[in-house]
Amino acid sequence: MTTLLLVGASGHGRVLADLGETLGFVGIAFVDDRWPEVTDNNGWPVIGATRDVVRLSGQYDAVVVSIGANEPRLALHRRLMEQGVAASTLVHPSAVISSRAEIGVGSVVLANVVVGAFATVGEAAILNTACTVDHDCRLADGVHISPGVHLAGQVHVGERTWIGIGTSVREGAVIGKGVVIGAGAAVVSDIADSVIATGVPARPRQIGGAAT
Ligand SMILES: CC(C)(COP(=O)(O)OP(=O)(O)OC[C@H]1O[C@@H](n2cnc3c(N)ncnc32)[C@H](O)[C@@H]1OP(=O)(O)O)[C@@H](O)C(=O)NCCC(=O)NCCS
Repeated sequence: MTTLLLVGASGHGRVLADLGETLGFVGIAFVDDRWPEVTDNNGWPVIGATRDVVRLSGQYDAVVVSIGANEPRLALHRRLMEQGVAASTLVHPSAVISSRAEIGVGSVVLANVVVGAFATVGEAAILNTACTVDHDCRLADGVHISPGVHLAGQVHVGERTWIGIGTSVREGAVIGKGVVIGAGAAVVSDIADSVIATGVPARPRQIGGAAT
């Protein structure tokens, strides 16, 4: 593979463009709905809008949706897959992934991530820098596991859930879909769908409305 089309010229997109260079891609470009006002993302060209992806995808060896927020990333990934765009998976060379683990298409695995045996990760997920996903974990589509998160064995994480930086999750915990776990939490019991939970131990809180 030599050319990479990233959908979403965000900060997360820049991270993926940088990863793409590490992986040896030489032609890296973005599409973004701010085009044509925005034509550059820190040196990488923005060459069209989201509506152009289907047409452009045939000219690229790999296509990945690079939107950081879980809901729009997963929705766009699914729409493009329905339209016949084959999403790729990007894995940093320093990541250690068990040969018995599975990573879904459109997902990205950043530097120093570890994924244990028999873990499964859905589509369009972000396994961010130096997180660990231990044996038999089940991560649904569109999750974001932030830098330095540690998931013990057999943890379940629901669709579109965002686990904040530095969180630890006890073995076997079941975290619902559309959840936000705040930075630095310790999840020691199950977390229901669609809540924001913070603290040690993590408990649902009536705060904010941070997009997942
Ligand atoms: C939980 C979170 C989503 C809430 O964001 P928010 O809705 O903007 O909340 P605010 O910053 O307005 O804070 C609201 C209250 O919650 C508290 N709070 C926020 N995040 C908290 C956290 N992680 N743990 C404990 N308390 C937290 C604040 O201290 C504040 O309390 P106060 O009302 O008593 O002053 C956010 O703080 C967070 O932790 N995001 C994860 C960030 C992350 O992992 N980034 C990595 C990206 S790669």
